[in-house]
Amino acid sequence: MSSWMFLLDVDRAPAAPLAILPTNTDDPAGWALEHRDALREAVVEHGAVLVRGLGLRDRTEVGAVFAGLTGGLMTEKEAFAPRQRYPGGIYSSTRWPAGLPMCMHHELSYVLEVPGLLLFACLTASVEGGATVLADARTVLEALPPALVARFEREGWLLTRSYNDEIGATFAEAFGTRSLPDVQRYCRANAIEFAWRADGGLRTRQRRPAVVRHPLTGRRCWFNQIAFLNQWTLDPAVREQLVEVYGEDGLPFNTFFGNGDPIDERLVALLNDVYEAHTVREPWQDGDLMLVDNIRTAHGREAYAWPREVYIGMADPVRIADLPLRCGGDF
Ligand SMILES: [Fe+2]
Repeated sequence: MSSWMFLLDVDRAPAAPLAILPTNTDDPAGWALEHRDALREAVVEHGAVLVRGLGLRDRTEVGAVFAGLTGGLMTEKEAFAPRQRYPGGIYSSTRWPAGLPMCMHHELSYVLEVPGLLLFACLTASVEGGATVLADARTVLEALPPALVARFEREGWLLTRSYNDEIGATFAEAFGTRSLPDVQRYCRANAIEFAWRADGGLRTRQRRPAVVRHPLTGRRCWFNQIAFLNQWTLDPAVREQLVEVYGEDGLPFNTFFGNGDPIDERLVALLNDVYEAHTVREPWQDGDLMLVDNIRTAHGREAYAWPREVYIGMADPVRIADLPLRCGGDF
C-alpha cells in the first residue's frame, strides 16, 4: 500500500475518480498544506484525486489552497474561449454554453509549455449535470486503432484558429496583448504560423505532438485536443451557422492530421466514443477540490443547469520539447 494511504481516508467507487475524505475541514488551506506531499503522490499514482468536502467557501480560500499545493500558478496563453482571471492566477471555468458538454481534452495541449497539474475547486455545484469528467490517456491510447495512433505519432496534429470578435477568445484575450508586433513575436517564438486577414482578423496554424511520454512515468499518453477542437465535435446547428458566417476555412478552430489532411466526422466520433467508454465521473459537491495530472488524464465537462461556480488553477509547467517523443512537430 502506498505511504500516503496511511495518512488519508480514501473512497474508491467504481467509474469514479479516487476520492479522499478529509476528517477536518475547519481550515482547508492548512489541511491542504499539511497533506500536500500525500496528495501530490496520490495524483502521480492515480492520475487524479478528488478531495471530497474540503469545505472551500470562497475564492480567497481557493487561492490559498491552490498556492499551498503548488509552486505557483501559471498564466493561461492561447485560450480557446474566454475565462475570468482573478488575483493569484485563479481562473473561472471556461465560458462555454452551459447546455453543451465540453468533450474530453488536455488543457492547453497545443502550447509549447503545458500545465502538468490542474486544480479545480467547486464553490457551488450545479443541481443537474456539470461534473468534470475524466479519462486516463494511457487507456485511451491503448483502445485506439494502432494504425491511427501510429499515424498521429508520426505526423502529430494540426490546429488552425481564426480569431474574430464574436466567437471564442479574441486574439487579444488569447495572447494577452492587442499589439500586433507582440502577437507576431509570440507566434514566431512558439512555432505558430500566422496570417492577418484584410479585415484585421488573425489566422494561425500550429503542429503539435499527439502522443507524449509522461515526464514522471515515461508511459505513452494520448495528449491532444484533436477531437475537442475539431469542427465535427461542434453542435451540428452551431457548426452549420459558423460555416455559413465564416466559411469552413474560417472556423474559430479546427484540427487536422499533421500533414494537413482533414479529419472526418467518423474519426471524431470514434475518438469521442473511446473517451466516453473510459470516462469516470463524480458529481461535484460544494467545497470540493480536485487535482488532475494534465498529461495523464483528459477532462471534460457535462452540460449543466445554472448555477455552477468552479475555479481552476494551472501549475507545474512542462515544456513539450522536454518530453521524449517519437512523433512529428515543429517545436
Ligand atoms: Fe479544460
